[in-house]
Amino acid sequence: RIPLLIDTDPGVDDALALLMAFNDPRHAVVGLTVAAGNVGLQHTVANALKLCEVAGVDVPVFAGCATPLLHLAEDAGYVHGRDGFGDVGYVPAARKAEAEHAALAILRLSHEHAGRLLLVALGPLTNLALALRLDPTLPSRVGRLVVMGGAVTGRGNTSAVAEFNIGFDPEAAHIVFDAFPRADLADWEAVLEHGFPHREVERWLACGSARATFYELISRKTRQWAGDSRGDRWHSADALAMAFALEPDGALEVAERPLAVELAGHHSRGATIVDWQRRGGAPDNAAILLRYDQRRFEALIEAALAAV
Ligand code: BDR
Ligand code: CA
Repeated sequence: RIPLLIDTDPGVDDALALLMAFNDPRHAVVGLTVAAGNVGLQHTVANALKLCEVAGVDVPVFAGCATPLLHLAEDAGYVHGRDGFGDVGYVPAARKAEAEHAALAILRLSHEHAGRLLLVALGPLTNLALALRLDPTLPSRVGRLVVMGGAVTGRGNTSAVAEFNIGFDPEAAHIVFDAFPRADLADWEAVLEHGFPHREVERWLACGSARATFYELISRKTRQWAGDSRGDRWHSADALAMAFALEPDGALEVAERPLAVELAGHHSRGATIVDWQRRGGAPDNAAILLRYDQRRFEALIEAALAAV
């Protein structure tokens, strides 16, 4: 099985992506490295541990960076709930996080699974950037990097042009995209193209499994919020990235282009600048998902929620 390491900031959509990963027979999740992002680190770590407990999996959880590298940023508690899991008041998991820092765990696991490791980043890229600063040879040991992040034509979700994961820690994102020769990217604009009717989502959530029941509970507020603000379709950013990671051949259209992160700019900080016409001469470093097989995406989500 392919070793899968997930860097994450759970987060309601992170949780769904993690359930998809836990349910995939072709991949073995070797760790969850956790950063602050959607909400503070205390909550994202507690949420990762709780999700493992609900799913009955014993994957080690490593706490990482509590802040972005340089500038403090606003979290997304207004989307995910103040605790990141819909403020439902769940009983915390019995298990605690490992003592090892997430950045060190990324490096150690990259050695243990050198050449084969599938690394999926579902949150701000702070832990990964720190790991890269500690050991710049990291990319040579990663088999494939998949990132949820960016807004490739400038239609952001946290500022006019920035997507949340990149906008939360642009310096970290710059370090990662600069260091990895290739990142497979599921950006916010692809997410918007891969929605599902709310009614269908409600049907999956009503299947009666412990995973679906917990997910129904923690996602209730965000589904309400999304219904109010984004209309009749439900979107899950991290789930799309995970589908791309688990079943890359479900990608129907991908564009390889040079991608850079804007670090300055009053309006444009955190934007992902894609050189669509390759004017700058930089090498292609991003494989941008444009279209994914919606049936396969749906099947992965439905199976992940129904699993016992
Ligand atoms: C991304 O930001 C977070 O709020 C989600 O978990 C996802 O990773 C979407 O922009
Ligand atoms: Ca996330």
